Amino acid sequence: MGGQMIRILRRSALLTVVAAGVLACSQPAETPTATATSDTKDSSLAVWPVLSQKRTLDPATEARIDALLAKLTVEEKVGQLIQADIAHVTPEDLKTYPLGSILNGGNSAPEGNVRIGPEAWLALADAFYEAAGQRDGTHVPLLWGTDAVHGHNNAVGATIFPHNIGLGAARDPELMARIGEITALETVITGQDWSFAPTVAVARNDRWGRTYESYSENPEIVASYAGKIVEGLQGEIGDPRRLRDGHVISSAKHFVGDGGTHDGIDQGDTRASEQELAEIHAAGYPSAIEAGVEIIMASFNSWQGNKLHGHKYLLTDVLKEHWGFDGFIVGDWNGHGQVADCMPTRCPAAIMAGLDMYMAPDSWQALYRNTLDDVANGAITEVRLDDAVRRILRVKIRAGLFAKPKPSERYMAGDFKALGSPAHRAVARQAVRKSLVLLKNNDAVLPVAGDARVLVTGDGAHDMGKQTGGWTLSWQGSGNSREDFPNANTIWEGFEETLQSLGGEAVYSADGSYDQRPDVAIVVFGEGPYAEFTGDRNDVAFREDGTHLRLLEQYQAAGIPTVAVFLSGRPMWVNRYLNASDAFVAAFLPGSEGGGIADVLIADSDGKAQHDFVGRLSFSWPNHPLHATLNVGNDGPDPLFAFGYGLDYTATTSLAAVEPLPDFDLTAVDTQQILVVRGAPVRPWSVTLESGDYSQDLSGRSRLSVPALSAARQDYRSQEDALRLAWTGGHATAIVGGQSVDWTRAANGDVSLVLEAHVDPATLGDVALQLGCGDACNSPRAVADFLPADATGGWHTLQVPLKCLTSDTNALAGMNEPVSLSATRNSTIALHAVHLGPTEGPVRCGK
Ligand code: BGC
Ligand code: BGC
Repeated sequence: MGGQMIRILRRSALLTVVAAGVLACSQPAETPTATATSDTKDSSLAVWPVLSQKRTLDPATEARIDALLAKLTVEEKVGQLIQADIAHVTPEDLKTYPLGSILNGGNSAPEGNVRIGPEAWLALADAFYEAAGQRDGTHVPLLWGTDAVHGHNNAVGATIFPHNIGLGAARDPELMARIGEITALETVITGQDWSFAPTVAVARNDRWGRTYESYSENPEIVASYAGKIVEGLQGEIGDPRRLRDGHVISSAKHFVGDGGTHDGIDQGDTRASEQELAEIHAAGYPSAIEAGVEIIMASFNSWQGNKLHGHKYLLTDVLKEHWGFDGFIVGDWNGHGQVADCMPTRCPAAIMAGLDMYMAPDSWQALYRNTLDDVANGAITEVRLDDAVRRILRVKIRAGLFAKPKPSERYMAGDFKALGSPAHRAVARQAVRKSLVLLKNNDAVLPVAGDARVLVTGDGAHDMGKQTGGWTLSWQGSGNSREDFPNANTIWEGFEETLQSLGGEAVYSADGSYDQRPDVAIVVFGEGPYAEFTGDRNDVAFREDGTHLRLLEQYQAAGIPTVAVFLSGRPMWVNRYLNASDAFVAAFLPGSEGGGIADVLIADSDGKAQHDFVGRLSFSWPNHPLHATLNVGNDGPDPLFAFGYGLDYTATTSLAAVEPLPDFDLTAVDTQQILVVRGAPVRPWSVTLESGDYSQDLSGRSRLSVPALSAARQDYRSQEDALRLAWTGGHATAIVGGQSVDWTRAANGDVSLVLEAHVDPATLGDVALQLGCGDACNSPRAVADFLPADATGGWHTLQVPLKCLTSDTNALAGMNEPVSLSATRNSTIALHAVHLGPTEGPVRCGK
């Protein structure tokens, strides 16, 4: 397989072949013309595959755009270029600002409540639609974009499909089309027009926090899926219902190289050659474009040091000219602000490079004014402005938006029963079954007989948050409980229902203990939810406090057959868990239909499997915590389980014990995000006390003072696991420093500095918190402002959004002193932990 893969990848014709296969079954609406390969004016363009067919523009649509462009004022044109987030823009604003689009970011929802019902989403869609219609001037309908990336995952009650990594294991392009259709339908029910999907990243370093958003490390799989998802979401070219009647606009993302960054760092630098960029990382785009994808999202990453949002060659020469992409390019979340010499509030260079719409969630207002200036002063040319607006109008016209009534009057809108309907859930459950990969099944422990007594335990067995992962209700998928998912079943509930119906007995045990000895023990565990950079890791070892390993080992020692069901967003080093289980199932992030797991693991009462395993690894599985870049076709260490691996019930393979303990520090913490643990700075971090000319490093001591400030150990959960800081009057500061961190990505997202601290409002005094990033960070915030209004003295988790601590997120690139706490009066605070964490709830900078 490996050798064959290398050969295939060397032929750039590969992508064309895959894409042509997709096209063969669709009827283009607009006459396709075979385009010559001779438009490769730059010789390096030769490495980019040639599309077999390009769409030609519809003259009537173009004439309509001409007429519109002639009427639009420059303000209306600039407005089209801007997309604002509903957490920062109101319907009222649209009566004055002629914006082209709105989005809801992962944490943004009507009334700031990500758990609000679907009615509120539809009502808000109407409110925005109507407000935009009330503005004076030429009416151009608004577009609302949402991350419907594994189902319409922001809406309570929606069907939640497995994340892409699991879908990749299913190897079923037709199923992707069906998933796209259902996702689109559920999205229009609540009034949104556009899904920021599919993600066609080809993740090549599993340390990346977005690995689970990638179908595969293998570009062929990504290419075979991309067009299918697009067709499912939008409808097929030639179908009169395309972009109407329950379809939404699709955008492929993130162009390009998102899965190839150095060290797997989210938003980092992809150092691939142009050939690798074209053949590996861009593999999904020809297929998506030929399927008619209307929008493409630019990526946060750089290619060889240059940010994609400002990359004219890739955005304009490759995507628009070489491939003839005639829709528009949207930016990613303030991504334009990372281009050299740009800010979230100003970036003419991005538009000149080929970006057509800025995603400017919170920066839109100043960006609008500055962009008007940039048009006036020529930094953005009229030709480019008109081309960008033309593309946006083209998409809006094709999507029928000028003709559609308000969102609640559209096809299926408000039919909330159809959200998470039994038919939709059945498809998701099928996807779960197909996504499971059986890595080990010694002594044919699986399938478990339907009449067996089965113990189900582990923290993933009955936890919707864990089984759905990031991008579910909230950005990070954190804080989700069973009640937030009216149309769903947990993995445990699936076992319970299945075993009951077959005459077996299912026993759920939260702590793993049992009264009656079970025939089999199933332990469900794995990674907790995360999204984007918060999921970046230094290695791919699975880490926990040891609970699940102990459980497996205890059952094993008692002679009870053990089954591990592992939930994760990436392949991980789990060797000790493999040794402690008789059967091991990689279930990835299955979504709302946990019952799909019991469908495959539990046999009927005759002992015959109800469904066999069909999933095959779409990512190579590591045999060491540091083997994060094992990719099919590459040289390098052997994976434990190769790409394509997966047992089924006909297999008789027995897996011998694997290497359990590499020479590796499994207790290492990520010091880019974690500063203080159990009251002590995590090396290389240190705590320094400063007062006037005095500066003293705590360096492991249990107490230390400088004039006006002393530090001493205090007990919280265990002995001396907190650091108490006491000020006695006069200005003094406690600083966490010792290395330099880059928190720009974190500050651009909803990320907070989290302090687990003992605070008593009566003695807190005037303690203020500040980041060390120079002028952009020099306004300290009173810690008291981040306490709940009715707080009493005790241990609190304080979240201080990074956005509250700086006016310029780019300034957090090289912080040496990320936290300083200062006071001038008698004041006290005790710190147990300091780390970064997702902002829960709406961003509030003080009371
Ligand atoms: C992500 C995109 C997403 C966008 C809107 C960005 O941070 O990179 O994938 O579509 O936010 O939520
Ligand atoms: C938003 C996400 C976005 C992320 C970018 C978050 O605040 O909710 O949608 O992708 O920021 O970092």
